[in-house]
Amino acid sequence: MKIAVLGHGTVGSGVCEILLSRAREISSAAGKPVELGPVLDIREPENVPYSEKFIKDFSAVLSDPEIGIVAECIGGLEPAYSYIKSALECGKSAVTSNKELVAEKGAELLSIARAHNVNFLFEASVGGGIPLIRPLYSAMNAAGITEIAGILNGTTNYILTKMFRFGADYSEALSDAQRLGYAERDPSADVLGWDACRKIAILSSLVWGSTLKPSEIPTEGIDKITADDVKIAEQFGFSIKLLARAKFLENGKIFAKVSPAFVKTDSPLSTVSDVFNAVLVKAETTGDVLFYGKGAGKMPTASAVVADIIECAKSENNIADVFWEDGAQSVFAGSDSVSERYFIRTDSDISGLIPEAGKIAEHAYITPLLTAGEFSVLKEKINEHAKLLSNIPIYE
Ligand code: HSE
Repeated sequence: MKIAVLGHGTVGSGVCEILLSRAREISSAAGKPVELGPVLDIREPENVPYSEKFIKDFSAVLSDPEIGIVAECIGGLEPAYSYIKSALECGKSAVTSNKELVAEKGAELLSIARAHNVNFLFEASVGGGIPLIRPLYSAMNAAGITEIAGILNGTTNYILTKMFRFGADYSEALSDAQRLGYAERDPSADVLGWDACRKIAILSSLVWGSTLKPSEIPTEGIDKITADDVKIAEQFGFSIKLLARAKFLENGKIFAKVSPAFVKTDSPLSTVSDVFNAVLVKAETTGDVLFYGKGAGKMPTASAVVADIIECAKSENNIADVFWEDGAQSVFAGSDSVSERYFIRTDSDISGLIPEAGKIAEHAYITPLLTAGEFSVLKEKINEHAKLLSNIPIYE
């Protein structure tokens, strides 16, 4: 069986390398010969030992009956969506590392795959090389998952780690992450939290069975975190992490949020550093389960794509049990459905507005438990007396 690789960027080139260098192990795991087929890229072929495989026309993939699986590593919605949709409709399985595509179009593509008796798998879309998607829909499918909290973006975790460890400048740490191939082409998707938002939307849809749209999830990035926040957090036994959270509420709806958060240094999430990701899953039967590993980078991510290729190759006519639907109504519970405490820092004294016990340092406070709406009211009051310099929720 031939595999078409779409996109020869960081992940796509890693997939080609693994398919070639580990061909024997891959074919043996799949129970049939699996080989690298055409590599689609709009750019000129690179100087690689398989440059003769480069093509520019996707219709050649659709018309080749030897190609059983398409590995999409282009990223973004188009043309990735159209390519995968037509491959599935032609009876070819598809695998992808593309979180934007899975978060936006996952339900539709899963349903098209089912209708054509092929697979659509996306292990690499969340958590890079961490086996996460498959354990969640298979090993934990009877666990009664109630909550997910994750560090799901390697670039921002790398930046925050550098800021904590070395007092590094934000932009210097970002350039480093880009040089190492962790950051998205446009790093705003990382630093503004959109990448983590898409990933928690995928996990939530997968675990609770109905699409949670990224556009509904309140999302804040790390671009406003300062060296002063880092210093105070350290002094009071916290680290700052970009957390993506989702919680199944009693009314059957889901609360989700992406934001920087103060995380107590005794939490397992607090010690996750550099490009590593971690996902803490709380479930009724298992209690806490922690997934940990490299969440970004060429080979870890490519390795997850190849694992999906093997899964598709060995389970022809056997559709994986991964599925969710676009529900008729939104499953998002609203940002006021959960209360939390916030760390705030101002330019002058606001003791009168916060209970005495909340003051932790000069012009730094921890609020009582507040909904997002109550916190907005407090922020307005604070702004009448002082300048609000930072506000960061506390993860408990
Ligand atoms: N830019 C992403 C990250 C890549 O830094 O986590 C992996 O999805």
